[in-house]
Amino acid sequence: MSKIGVFYGSTTGDTEELVMSLAAEFKDYDIDIYNVNSAAKEDLESYDNLIFASSTWGFGELQDDWADFVDVVKEVDLSSKKVAFIGTGDQDMYPDTFIDAIGIIYEAVKDSGAEFVGQYPVESYDFNDSRAVVDGKLIGLAIDNTNQEELTAERLSEWSSDLF
Ligand SMILES: Cc1cc2nc3c(=O)[nH]c(=O)nc-3n(C[C@H](O)[C@H](O)[C@H](O)COP(=O)(O)O)c2cc1C
Repeated sequence: MSKIGVFYGSTTGDTEELVMSLAAEFKDYDIDIYNVNSAAKEDLESYDNLIFASSTWGFGELQDDWADFVDVVKEVDLSSKKVAFIGTGDQDMYPDTFIDAIGIIYEAVKDSGAEFVGQYPVESYDFNDSRAVVDGKLIGLAIDNTNQEELTAERLSEWSSDLF
C-alpha cells in the first residue's frame, strides 16, 4: 500500500483538526501524520507522497513551527516524491496574504525536483492576493473555516480524490 506522510504546523489547533480528518479521505493509503514541531528529516525521507499543511500568521508569515521546519525540508532529496499543500487561513480578514504560508513553503522547494500535485482553482474564494497563487491556480488546497466552513468537506473530498 502506498504511503502518505502529512506534515502540519498549527498554532491554535485548526490545521491539526483538519489534517486529522484526512485519513478518511485516503482509505487506500497508509497515512501518517506528524506535527512539524517534533518531526525529523528521516520522517520526511520515508514517504513517496507528502502533504505539507500550514496556517498563515502575522501578515503572510509561516506558522511558527514551520518557520524552523522549512530548513529541514530543504535538506531532503525530494526529487522522486510527490508533494501537495494544504493552507488554512482567513480570506476575509487577510485578503492580501491569504494562505501565504504554503506559497512560502512552495518557494523553498520549487527547484527540488519534486512533482507538485493538488493545485486548486481560485474561483470559489474571494481574496486579493496570495503567494500561494502560481500560474493562476492555488498551489494547494485552501481551507477557510472562518468564512467558508460549509465548503470544507466538499473541497477536501474533491481535492483528495486522484491526488497521488
Ligand atoms: C494574528 C493572526 C494573523 C493571521 N494572519 C493570516 C494571514 O496573513 N493570512 C491568512 O490567510 N490567515 C491568517 N490568519 C488566520 C489563521 O491562519 C487561521 O485562523 C488558521 O485557521 C489558524 O490555524 P492554526 O490554529 O492551525 O494555526 C491569521 C490569524 C491571526 C489570529
